Amino acid sequence: MGVFVVVQALWLFLPAYMANMAPVFAAKVVPRWNARIDGGRVWSDGRPVLGSGKTWRGLWAGAFLGAATAAVQSLARHTRLDLADFAFAEAGWAGPVVLGFALGLGALVGDTAKSFFKRRRDRPQGAPWVPFDQLDFVVGGLLLAAAAAAFLRGAGLTAENWFAAEFLGPRWPVLAILLLATPVLHYVVNVIGYKLKFKQVPW
Ligand code: CTP
Ligand code: MG
Repeated sequence: MGVFVVVQALWLFLPAYMANMAPVFAAKVVPRWNARIDGGRVWSDGRPVLGSGKTWRGLWAGAFLGAATAAVQSLARHTRLDLADFAFAEAGWAGPVVLGFALGLGALVGDTAKSFFKRRRDRPQGAPWVPFDQLDFVVGGLLLAAAAAAFLRGAGLTAENWFAAEFLGPRWPVLAILLLATPVLHYVVNVIGYKLKFKQVPW
């Protein structure tokens, strides 16, 4: 597999990476749609259940951008690149859209779950929490993508299980690269986002 496996890992997870960046942009585009997922509720410890940083806007922006990203990526089947992993001739648009939606929604569900535990550990909204801030969306994206791939295969829409074919068995280095390279990539992207004034903090 060589160095190409790194490119493969980043390509496969691009919908989740895009989804993870979506909430910050969505906040700029529609600042008024700021309904919190926790509805402003407080947990028994007196802290917010999730906090004001977790909105429905961010969640759906991530799911939508994930689906759109994979749909565009599926067009790679028209090229000579060996990167057409989101192209399922038999499933048409359903394959990439369902998998991309699952990667995007899963990324944001993972991020939301992280915030629940972050508040319980008394870390205020926006404070860094290494390595959970960096890996929450990887775990969430992988879990929902696995479920979506099982659904597509079970419904007979794809001939094989996309998740198993891309991440499991002899493809385990792809998973290892995602877990090791994502925190580094996350840090670099956030510093850039901070310098470009999209983010208030460089993490
Ligand atoms: N965001 C959002 N909805 C989400 C996730 C993020 O609107 N579901 C927006 C918020 O404006 C948030 C910003 O994106 O402040 C950065 O996201 P993130 O770093 O995930 O949230 P934090 O504010 O750092 O909150 P936490 O400490 O709970 O991670
Ligand atoms: Mg944060």
